[in-house]
Amino acid sequence: MTPNYDEKYVAHLFDQMGPSYDVMNLITSFGFSEVWRAQCVGNLKITKGAVVADLMAGSGECWTYLRRRLRGTGKILSVDISPVMCRRQKARLGCAGSPVDIRCENALAMSLADGSVDHVISGFGLKTFNADQLNRLAAETFRILRPGGSCSFIEISVPEARLLQMLYGWYISSVIPLVGKAFLGGIDCYQMLGIYTAAFGSCAGCADIFRNAGFAVTVKKHFFGCATSLVLVKK
Ligand SMILES: C[S@@+](CC[C@H](N)C(=O)[O-])C[C@H]1O[C@@H](n2cnc3c(N)ncnc32)[C@H](O)[C@@H]1O
Repeated sequence: MTPNYDEKYVAHLFDQMGPSYDVMNLITSFGFSEVWRAQCVGNLKITKGAVVADLMAGSGECWTYLRRRLRGTGKILSVDISPVMCRRQKARLGCAGSPVDIRCENALAMSLADGSVDHVISGFGLKTFNADQLNRLAAETFRILRPGGSCSFIEISVPEARLLQMLYGWYISSVIPLVGKAFLGGIDCYQMLGIYTAAFGSCAGCADIFRNAGFAVTVKKHFFGCATSLVLVKK
């Protein structure tokens, strides 16, 4: 099956997954998703008072780690295209912490002003973009960051080691869809996530896109390459 990168399709996919996504993600990653989100935020020197954009924010799964850094100061600008995910973000607002501005919009054409944020982060938000969309995302990320600002993207990735690759491929394409079906009563959304992951490969594959947009780029591997992150600095 080939991945469908149409933005309306992707928004609908996550609308369907919204109610089960965070629990499903925690269980099927054996808790690694939380470790990787913490590492994504930990890639950056986020200090009190910073303005941080959380792109492809889902239901706000990364906010816990951002709020630990911001300690009630600064601001989180939370961007997601799925109305269901954004509604779920509102339910998370009650937790004490820095103010959050929820923007239900496309990260490829954001309403945020030029140079208006100190940092950008995103947990698992890259795989549903094709090369053309990643170019647009790189340009948008560069536009909204202030000069010297930094960015961290983390994504589930296909590991390089052959054995791990086979095991991981089987798990993502067979086990996760089965668990997903059990949660969602026959809807195949979680199978699509495996298809996007296989096509995405790893963050190393899109490092040049961000380099060409003007960023200094570092690629990091997490847990033998089962996740990878891009750490970017706007030069
Ligand atoms: C795999 S979830 C990641 C959610 C969360 N960041 C996390 O750490 O689990 C990807 C999210 O990206 C959002 N998304 C996909 N394409 C988008 C776009 N073009 N603009 C904004 N959000 C988008 C989806 O709605 C979904 O909530």
